Amino acid sequence: AAMRFDVLTLFPGMFTGPLSESILKRAIQAGRISVVLHDIRAYATDRHRTTDDAPYGGGAGMVMKPEPLAACIRAVLAMTDNDTGESAPKPPVILMTPDGEPFTQRIAAELATCPRLVLVCGRYEGVDERVRAALIDRELSIGDYVLTGGELAAMVVIDAVARLVPGVIDAESAAEESFSDGLLEYPQYTRPAVWEGREVPPVLVSGHHGEVAQWRRRERLRRTLERRPDLLARAVLTDADRAYLRT
Ligand code: ADE
Repeated sequence: AAMRFDVLTLFPGMFTGPLSESILKRAIQAGRISVVLHDIRAYATDRHRTTDDAPYGGGAGMVMKPEPLAACIRAVLAMTDNDTGESAPKPPVILMTPDGEPFTQRIAAELATCPRLVLVCGRYEGVDERVRAALIDRELSIGDYVLTGGELAAMVVIDAVARLVPGVIDAESAAEESFSDGLLEYPQYTRPAVWEGREVPPVLVSGHHGEVAQWRRRERLRRTLERRPDLLARAVLTDADRAYLRT
């Protein structure tokens, strides 16, 4: 069965472009994933369909009102894929917010095991704290910077999780890649063998698979040491790795 992402947003149009291209488009067409967009504004009940209001206590910006957002979350949780009467487990309701838990490859892998995720995109200065307390299970940040809303962050989570769903990409690529073992990737080359006077490292065209593997491992160690020493401190290293890093 396809993994389902429900996205609650004031701007559903922000998702249509990214979901209509490349790997995500193919994953949707192949029935590996589905993305259902829900317009929070459709759950506002006043004449102007108001979704935000000024903060109690004063201050800049606007806060997302509890009622339309809560109604939208509850309506989405009441929707199911099948009419068999079978009870699916309640999906996690995840709020995208800069004060959330930092999103990592580990969390992406954990979320990829869920049959369904509900992603809530905040806007304005934030979401009324009582909605968070009542209905949000988890809060995720995609990094220490502030976006205009949670939409791009939700799209990042969908992309990172969807590519881990079986059949969406080549299984080997997902298992082999950087972050599954805590090191950065080795440099990649393709034809031509010489481009603008720059050669491909001879070991890669040597046909010696053992030497290629050793070169790649060392390049990964070198790059990680240079660019991300914080990752190296947590990586699983062999004695040979440590010996190379001392050179
Ligand atoms: N909304 C605004 N900024 C964000 C961020 N960095 N991560 C997740 N959601 C956000």
